[in-house]
Amino acid sequence: KKGNYDHFMQKEIHEQPHSLTTTMRGRLRDNDVVLGGLKVHLKTIRHSRRIIFIGCGTSYNAALAARPFLEELSGIPVAMELASDLLDRQGPIYREDTAVFVSQSGETADTLLALEYALENGALCVGITNTVGSTLARKTHCGVHINAGCEIGVASTKAYTSQIVVMVMVALAIGADKISTQSKRDAIINALHDLPNQVSEVLKLDSEMKDLAESLIETQSLLVFGRGYNYATALEGALKVKEVALMHSEGMLAGEMKHGPLALVDETLPIIVIATRDACFSKQQSVIQQLHARKGRLIVMCSNGDVSSVCPSGSCRVIEVPQVADCLQPVINIVPLQLLAYHLTVLRGYDVDQPRNLAKSVTTQ
Ligand code: UD1
Ligand code: BG6
Repeated sequence: KKGNYDHFMQKEIHEQPHSLTTTMRGRLRDNDVVLGGLKVHLKTIRHSRRIIFIGCGTSYNAALAARPFLEELSGIPVAMELASDLLDRQGPIYREDTAVFVSQSGETADTLLALEYALENGALCVGITNTVGSTLARKTHCGVHINAGCEIGVASTKAYTSQIVVMVMVALAIGADKISTQSKRDAIINALHDLPNQVSEVLKLDSEMKDLAESLIETQSLLVFGRGYNYATALEGALKVKEVALMHSEGMLAGEMKHGPLALVDETLPIIVIATRDACFSKQQSVIQQLHARKGRLIVMCSNGDVSSVCPSGSCRVIEVPQVADCLQPVINIVPLQLLAYHLTVLRGYDVDQPRNLAKSVTTQ
C-alpha cells in the first residue's frame, strides 16, 4: 500500500494535495461553506461564552494553528486545553461553553475522558476526527469528519493539515452571519480552492529539505521559533523532529525569545525562524536581527522572493515557500518541516513509521 514510497510517513506527506482536496470536497461553495454536521448547531455555537479546543499532540497543535482565525471571525474567546492538563486541573467548563475535541483517531484516552467531563458539565461538545464511527464521533453532540483518508505513520502529517483546514472552515461557518468580515471570508474561500496546488508547489522542496537534513544529521538539538498564525507551526515542526528523528527539538514562541531561549544561542545550535509574510513579519525580522547579532546558526523560512528582506547579510540558510492567505499559511509552512523530519530520520537510521516508544493511538492514561 506504500506504492512508490519507502515509508507511510513519506507517502502521507506527499499525498497532502489529495487529502486536502477530499477534506474540502462538497463543503466549499462559491462564497459559502457547508458543514453538514454543524449546520443546526451554528446558532448555539455563536451564542457560546467561550470556545475551548481540547486535544493531545499534533491534534492540539492543529487547533492552536486555527485559533487566531476563529477568534478573528467569531469574536468569541477561544481557549486551548491539552486534554491531560484539563483533567489534572479539573478546569472549569460551563453550559455556555462550546468544547471542540480534536483527535485524528477519535480514540485517545485523555481526549475521551475530557469529553466525558465536558458532557457532565453541560457544554455543547463538537468532534473533529478522521475516524467515522470512533468513540469521539459517537459521543459528541455533533462534529466534522476530516476525511483525510487512513493515516498509518505514527507521526501525524496529512491529518494535521486536514484538521487545520476543517477548523478554518468551521470558523468560516461560525462567522457567516457577520457582514463586516464577508470580504475576508470570500478571500479565504478562494484561497482554500487553490490550497492543494500551493501544497504541491511546496512539496517540490523535498530534495532541498534532504540537503538541509544532511547538514543537521549530527546536531544534538534544534529550535524552531514562530509566532501568530505560525506559533503552532513551530511546535508541530519541533514535535515531528522529536518524534521520528529522535532529536531534541523545541518549538518556541518568538515573542518569548528574550525571556530565556536567547541564552542558548551560539554558533552551533541550529535555529529555524518562521518569517513568512503576515502581520507579525516585521517582528520576526527583528528576531532574526537579534539572533544574527549573537551569531546564531539561522535557517529562515520566508515567502517566495523575500530572501533579501529576511537575510540581508546573506549568511543564513533560507527556505522559500509559496505565500497564501495568512490563516492558511500554517498548512504550507509545516510541509518543509515534515520533509525535514522525515529525511533526518532516514539519514539517522531510525524507524520512520514506528518510532521508538510511541503508539499511533494512546488508548490508556
Ligand atoms: C455526510 C456523510 C457523507 C456524505 C455527506 C453528503 C457520513 C459519515 N458522512 O457528510 O458521507 O457524502 O453527508 O451530504 O455519513 N459527527 C459527530 N462527531 C464527530 C464527527 C461527526 O457527531 O466527531 C456527526 C456530524 O454532526 C454529522 C455526522 O457525524 O451528523 C457526519 O459528519 P460529517 O461526515 O462531517 O458530515 P457531512 O460532511 O455532512
Ligand atoms: C499519539 C500519536 O501520541 O497521539 C500522535 O503518536 C497524535 O501522532 C496523538 O498526535 C493524538 O492522537 P489523536 O488520534 O487524538 O489525534
